[in-house]
Amino acid sequence: MKKKLLSALLSTAMVASLLAGCGSAAAPAADAAAPAAEAAPAAEAAPAEEAAPAAEEAPAAEAAAPKEVGTIGVAMPTKDLQRWNQDGENMKKELEAAGYTVDLQFADNTVATQVSQIENMIANGDSILVLASIDGSSLGTVLEGAKAANIPVIAYDRLIMNTDAVSYYATFDNYMVGTKQGEYIRDTLDLDNAAGPFNLEIFTGDPGDNNAQFFYGGAMDVLNPYIDSGKLVIQSGQKDFAEVATANWDTATAQSRMENIISSYYAGGEKIDVFLGTHDSTALGVENALDSAYKGDWPIITGQDCDKPNVKNMIAGKQSMSIFKDTRTLASQVVKMVDAIAQGGEVPVNDTETYDNGTGVIPSYLCEPVFADVNNYKELLIDSGYYTEDDLK
Ligand code: GAL
Repeated sequence: MKKKLLSALLSTAMVASLLAGCGSAAAPAADAAAPAAEAAPAAEAAPAEEAAPAAEEAPAAEAAAPKEVGTIGVAMPTKDLQRWNQDGENMKKELEAAGYTVDLQFADNTVATQVSQIENMIANGDSILVLASIDGSSLGTVLEGAKAANIPVIAYDRLIMNTDAVSYYATFDNYMVGTKQGEYIRDTLDLDNAAGPFNLEIFTGDPGDNNAQFFYGGAMDVLNPYIDSGKLVIQSGQKDFAEVATANWDTATAQSRMENIISSYYAGGEKIDVFLGTHDSTALGVENALDSAYKGDWPIITGQDCDKPNVKNMIAGKQSMSIFKDTRTLASQVVKMVDAIAQGGEVPVNDTETYDNGTGVIPSYLCEPVFADVNNYKELLIDSGYYTEDDLK
């Protein structure tokens, strides 16, 4: 019954969203999957007080009463990378504060584990799934079950590919992450005026994560003209996405690739001027390799996520910048989506063009990524309560 209600509400929310011009022509099939016949009885079954237009009473009732939609399943990829712990805990805290019951799972970066966690969520009758995939292309089969059960799916930070079971996507503006990194390199080296050439090496993330393409694409759109003109030179020649990707965003993998690059291309004392690191855990691998095997002046290094070891390295002068993606902001945004779905309201999205998962554009909410460096980290990270001073010692 609850599921029927939810499915009808989802349909209503999507129609509202389309009418308001926020939906896309490729509205997810979860909508289409909801049989029309279900909508009417379920809507009728909605408790009278939900329909009442008593605007002032609504907030109080919302705050106090547990939501009637049942459990929200939240699947996170791993506890190994710091940010996903925070994402998971923030989601749980915020959803519980909003009155939901939460089933939070971490999958140890193992796709089969994540698939079985999602299977359980579906079997247990969870009402809405919030999923941060390990491999965006590996959830199509398991999500057929979600679609069949009319369980709305929100892709959390990473888009889930090639399945029409995904209703919404909440993330940061991933292309903007890349452009901010590229612009930082361009401006810090003053590429429009300096003579150069400068030696650049590139590290990006996991090829199974759609975000990695956006990070890489955003940065390379800024840097490519300087590579083409010869002002930036890649001594290793490793430039294409597949050559610079790092499986699982793994620090040790990035470190060993960097050690190879140093011994093969920079062993004669050549200077490395700059690393495009699209993410902190790979930047950390580069920094570790430089620490152990590179004797020249420390290069410019970019990153993303403001992971604790990387912020420590920023303070120590070993990483030039990072991108702060406040996971609290993302979590609150997803809670708003969950609420809107659960209550049949209009689901907040601000992008209906960018994220095509292979079955159509998924209506998305993009949070804004923020530039971070040694000059503003205190305000961004400590004053805002994201970290304590002790976290960064
Ligand atoms: C991406 C995410 C990045 C980073 C990376 C590794 O999907 O957008 O911010 O966290 O995963 O965990």
